[in-house]
Amino acid sequence: MTKVVLITGASSGLGKATASYLLANNYRVFGTSRDPHKYNYDKSIELLTFDLNQPETAQQLVDQVMHKTGRIDVLINNAGAGITGPIEETDLKSMKYHFSTNLFGPLSLIQKVLPIMREQKSGLIINITSIGGYMGLPFRGMYSASKGALGVTSEALRMEVKRFGIDVVTLAPGDYATDIPTRRIYSPLKKDSPYHALYKHSLDTIDEHVYHGSRPLDFARVVHKIIKLKKRKVHYLSGSFLQKLSLLLKSILPDTLFEKIIMNHYKV
Ligand SMILES: NC(=O)c1ccc[n+]([C@@H]2O[C@H](COP(=O)([O-])OP(=O)(O)OC[C@H]3O[C@@H](n4cnc5c(N)ncnc54)[C@H](OP(=O)(O)O)[C@@H]3O)[C@@H](O)[C@H]2O)c1
Repeated sequence: MTKVVLITGASSGLGKATASYLLANNYRVFGTSRDPHKYNYDKSIELLTFDLNQPETAQQLVDQVMHKTGRIDVLINNAGAGITGPIEETDLKSMKYHFSTNLFGPLSLIQKVLPIMREQKSGLIINITSIGGYMGLPFRGMYSASKGALGVTSEALRMEVKRFGIDVVTLAPGDYATDIPTRRIYSPLKKDSPYHALYKHSLDTIDEHVYHGSRPLDFARVVHKIIKLKKRKVHYLSGSFLQKLSLLLKSILPDTLFEKIIMNHYKV
């Protein structure tokens, strides 16, 4: 039977590459965008409307897929946004918005998909987190926190739904060459902010890492491998050797030494 995959954020970057790859491997693929009409050029992927900050669009999205196929085998919560800004100057409203984008949005969709997977007695949910969600990164505290929270919530959810035949995993990318910087949410700095120079320097470094990152196609292959596995781990990483190594270093080095490495890496 052809597996039905719903992948959010398929108009660009990792989501688009994964949607195309799965389509080429005979999956029925539905992608999402906040504005699918903008992307009409690629008719091979059925793009539906979904906005992480409008949870009511989650039910409409699921209804549309169910109307067309009657099942959802794999949900890939890929849509998300890069978020930057110094913690001191990020107001509470923005912090809530950041969490709404990278945590509550994916969770709202999961809540709508779970009853369907429970009824099917099978299903796989892949939550795309970030290697940056395993550690606090300077000027990306809200991003790290929201992705870290998605990872921990996935661990809890996995245990809750296992008995229904539903599997939940996370996949944390390192740096991939996508357009994520153009969609990034930048917290504005105050005019007299003490962070101007450091923040700019740090942003330049982050962007450089992304633009020199791995190929989205490699990421798509990892997603496909995870889907095909019979027995899955809780967490997966995907990225360069050094990025994966950073997690090992974090677990074995004294925290102040690891902090020094990170500060040096991001030039802060
Ligand atoms: N690229 C990396 O280096 C990297 C590293 C670690 C983690 N990640 C994670 O991987 C995922 C994909 O990233 P990417 O690099 O492919 O980014 P991207 O090229 O900017 O693509 C993001 C996708 O998410 C959608 N999206 C963005 N904000 C949205 C919102 N508020 N509501 C609904 N959809 C939204 C976009 O669709 P529309 O704009 O059409 O709505 C787009 O399709 C993200 O969760 C990101 O955090 C990426």
